[in-house]
Amino acid sequence: MAERSSGLEGVVVAETRLSDVDGEAGRLVIAGRDVEDLAGRVSFEAVAGALIEGQRSPAFAETMRRALGEARGRAWAALLPLWRDALGLGDGMAALRAGVALLERDDDPMDIVGAIAVFAAAWARRARGLPLVAPDPAAGHAADYLRMITGQAPDSAVARALDAYLVTVVDHGMNASTFTARVIASTGSDMVSAITGAIGALKGPLHGGAPGEVLGMLDAVGTPDRADAWIAAELAAGRRIMGMGHRIYRVRDPRAAVLEREVTGLQRAGIEAAHLDLARAVEAAAERRLAERHPDRPLRANVEFYTAVLLHALRISRAAFSPTFAVARAAGWCAHVREQRATGRLIRPSSKYVGARWAIAGDGAA
Ligand code: COA
Repeated sequence: MAERSSGLEGVVVAETRLSDVDGEAGRLVIAGRDVEDLAGRVSFEAVAGALIEGQRSPAFAETMRRALGEARGRAWAALLPLWRDALGLGDGMAALRAGVALLERDDDPMDIVGAIAVFAAAWARRARGLPLVAPDPAAGHAADYLRMITGQAPDSAVARALDAYLVTVVDHGMNASTFTARVIASTGSDMVSAITGAIGALKGPLHGGAPGEVLGMLDAVGTPDRADAWIAAELAAGRRIMGMGHRIYRVRDPRAAVLEREVTGLQRAGIEAAHLDLARAVEAAAERRLAERHPDRPLRANVEFYTAVLLHALRISRAAFSPTFAVARAAGWCAHVREQRATGRLIRPSSKYVGARWAIAGDGAA
């Protein structure tokens, strides 16, 4: 099968110290460590500190925890009145895009990462018609995000699982939203513009918009014994299986394994992950059917597959899945904006013109 190309595969548009994706080996390194070693062992604040400030000490993780807590507090106090209309928008990513755009000209990554968590949680509450919950600056970022969504401090296994999720998806090479952020940063524009643009890119179903659709798929399949027939019918109808396939990975996305591990951990802690067995059956059926259809193109589970299972088990609503992805990725985006700025170079790829020549009356007249 001939692979279609965006023309950019393999083109190096930046040098980065932030993360590295090896699609053949199925390896993701974030800030110098494999994602499997980080998730569940190192906090989101620690990884955000390593990415944004290049600091890896436990003491700095504590500094980041305080700084992010204060930033959430500032966002709640200063931005809530400004956010009234944005919080009323029906789509979580459209709302987040509008809410972040209102940060005006703020170049502090802490303010942006803190504000995104407060906004995303407030939107999730408002969407369910519930009163908003103020942040607790003393709490960890993951635990506080969950508390602002559910109204209750989460137990430690739940907070740990969300923290592991935030770490797992914090950065991922030159993905579409990160590239967007870097392009905007490369023009000399401000950080808020770069992050607003990145949110627009993440919103798409081929990037960060897939996990909600994965959950929809699992609900539609219903029981493990129906998985194979359901997948076969979808493929026969020419539809894509959400949560399967990746532009870079030619093996199973390593983040899928990390998140599956976290869901299993939740179950061991007595927290029900209703969709885990079903998800495994659907993944196996999809992998088998896709291999039959595309024998030369490995199409395996990507991060979104088990994101859906994990976030559902954490009682985060489907509509809030993509905004929760942005809560994590915001730290990676800010780090990339800083890194891009340090180069001082405008990103300006070229295009190949394949259009027709415009014939205008009078052409050829002497
Ligand atoms: N389900 C069914 N078929 C798929 C597929 C999927 N999830 N992913 C790719 N394919 C098929 C395509 O239809 C195409 O077949 P064709 O050549 O016969 O038309 C072939 O595999 C190659 O697809 P292509 O679009 O070139 O792959 P890509 O590198 O652009 O795909 C994704 C990457 C992520 C866009 C794609 O796998 C996809 O749409 N996945 C579902 C959405 C998703 O989970 N997104 C989250 C990504 S982290």
